[in-house]
Amino acid sequence: MKITFIGGGNMASALISGLLKQGYSAGQIGVVEINEDTRARLKTMFGITAVADLKGGLSSATRSGGTHVVVLAVKPQQLQELSQQMRESLDRQLVISIAAGIRATDLMRWLGGYQRIIRAMPNTPSLVGAGVTGLYAVPDVIEQDRHIAESIMEAVGSILWVGDEDMLHTITAICGSGPAYVFYFIESMQTAGIKLGLSENEARTLALQTFQGAVKLANEGDEDVAVLRSKVTSKGGTTQQAIETLDAGDVKNRIIAAVFAANVRSREMSEEFGKL
Ligand SMILES: NC(=O)c1ccc[n+]([C@@H]2O[C@H](COP(=O)([O-])OP(=O)(O)OC[C@H]3O[C@@H](n4cnc5c(N)ncnc54)[C@H](OP(=O)(O)O)[C@@H]3O)[C@@H](O)[C@H]2O)c1
Repeated sequence: MKITFIGGGNMASALISGLLKQGYSAGQIGVVEINEDTRARLKTMFGITAVADLKGGLSSATRSGGTHVVVLAVKPQQLQELSQQMRESLDRQLVISIAAGIRATDLMRWLGGYQRIIRAMPNTPSLVGAGVTGLYAVPDVIEQDRHIAESIMEAVGSILWVGDEDMLHTITAICGSGPAYVFYFIESMQTAGIKLGLSENEARTLALQTFQGAVKLANEGDEDVAVLRSKVTSKGGTTQQAIETLDAGDVKNRIIAAVFAANVRSREMSEEFGKL
């Protein structure tokens, strides 16, 4: 199998790094990248081929035989122009688009009716191999192609298939934007720690370790997180006081509202890109 990334930025680099760690060889991976410095960085870091020429990059991989996968990893606003440039060069490759918010139907249209398309919605923890990726395949995509997409995205974390493309908006709102909600919470813990006398470094370490420990505890048991929370909350104790303060500020409902707002924005962005 040959995998050609179009666009060799942050997310492509995370995937390439994960694929190499999973045992894919450098010879199986190629990148088409317009930025010269990025091409040089990719060659040095991964020992892979990185070229500027789109048609050459695609056809050399196809000529080598076997399954050829093309991963579209440019920014969403760059994808329509790229699609117009590559439609003539597509020849039965499996196309996986990681571009946020670009609907499969719009991509199919831009690619001149091309159907062998899977959408993947990864998140930034993919950069450290701990991502979550939502996957959606257009109806005619065969099982074997689904397995290929799975194996590529599992190189950087876990995956979840959705049968309805609309659910990718939910995954975007929970997992795509989610790391920012977690950082927001950690930032607040850090600020409180500093105000209560810790150094910046101590506050960061304690907040991160507490978060990590709580997630590990939740992951390794089968108790609901609400039960785990109640176990930390003794009647009349410090945690109860803290949770009551959060509830007084309606924090839980504000977090739910925040996730809903991200979901709405994801839909709006898809509509905007769909007008191109
Ligand atoms: N980062 C995330 O958290 C995340 C999460 C989910 C999904 N995604 C999706 O992943 C995609 C890539 O994101 P990223 O953060 O990796 O972006 P990025 O770092 O900007 O990488 C995109 C790369 O593609 C290059 N490029 C642009 N047009 C090109 C073309 N026609 N042919 C070849 N290369 C081209 C860009 O060069 P220039 O810089 O010179 O334009 C850049 O080096 C986006 O569609 C994004 O929605 C990202």
